[in-house]
Amino acid sequence: PTLHIITPTYSRPVQKAELTRLANTLLHVPNLHWLLVEDSAQKTPLVSRLLENSRLNYTHLNVETPPNLKVQRTKFRNARIPRGTMQRNLALRWLRANIGPRLGQSGVVYFADDDNTYSLELFEEMRWTHKASVWPVAFVGGLRYESPKINSQGKVSGWRTVFDPRRPFAIDMAGFAVNLQLILSKPQAYFKLKGVKGGYQESSLLQDLVTLSDLEPKADNCTKVLVWHTRTERPLLVNEGKKGFTDGRVEELLHN
Ligand code: UGA
Ligand code: MN
Repeated sequence: PTLHIITPTYSRPVQKAELTRLANTLLHVPNLHWLLVEDSAQKTPLVSRLLENSRLNYTHLNVETPPNLKVQRTKFRNARIPRGTMQRNLALRWLRANIGPRLGQSGVVYFADDDNTYSLELFEEMRWTHKASVWPVAFVGGLRYESPKINSQGKVSGWRTVFDPRRPFAIDMAGFAVNLQLILSKPQAYFKLKGVKGGYQESSLLQDLVTLSDLEPKADNCTKVLVWHTRTERPLLVNEGKKGFTDGRVEELLHN
């Protein structure tokens, strides 16, 4: 099966570093298709070149989150839509439009944010996914890791989380993968944009695709951590702008 890895990304000083690290990881993974979706009105030269030079099998897409829906640092955290949602939905639409269900291609879809840390083992675990597979994710929900709860029959019986374990699928974006044919066969399944409470984004898609009993625990019955929800510190560029000290085009324009 081909792994279809969907990554939303947006322009900021660390973007090229994040994408370089992720591309380096993905280069080790056989039979992979990277759908990299820029949150921008146009495809940027920085990302275009990075992909061209990557030797990866990729599809480059873009859709700009409307400014009024963008991440706002307000106290009404739920007023905004979650980051990367429109970009992930565009990639789902691309798969449905370009890989018809009739072609019967075997594949798996995984949502990989550009800043997380992925073990190579993770990709081989998810490759054999009948409907949806799940595993622990480190550094989310205020815990060292969150995990699906596995019962003695080896089935998912609930969620080992502190934040709202009653969510239908109390799991981070990095903690599940879905069979491609299932995605293709449910063309109405998308991440909901409106009226989704914080932490319910993943549920808003998975509810349309599977039930709890469909879930396939991976990573040794969810006893191993194979993905880390790392977040990159924003570099302090306090001396930039003082006479425009360095040339921002070094990252954007030069063939490096
Ligand atoms: C957490 C979850 O792990 C994300 O899957 C979820 O989308 C996000 O919260 C949310 O609900 O807002 P977090 O580390 O807080 O993740 O989010 P980011 O890593 O900043 O963003 C998630 C993805 O969206 C990244 O790949 C990022 O590059 C992209 N993004 C972020 C955009 O495309 N546009 C933006 O304006 C911001
Ligand atoms: Mn992140």
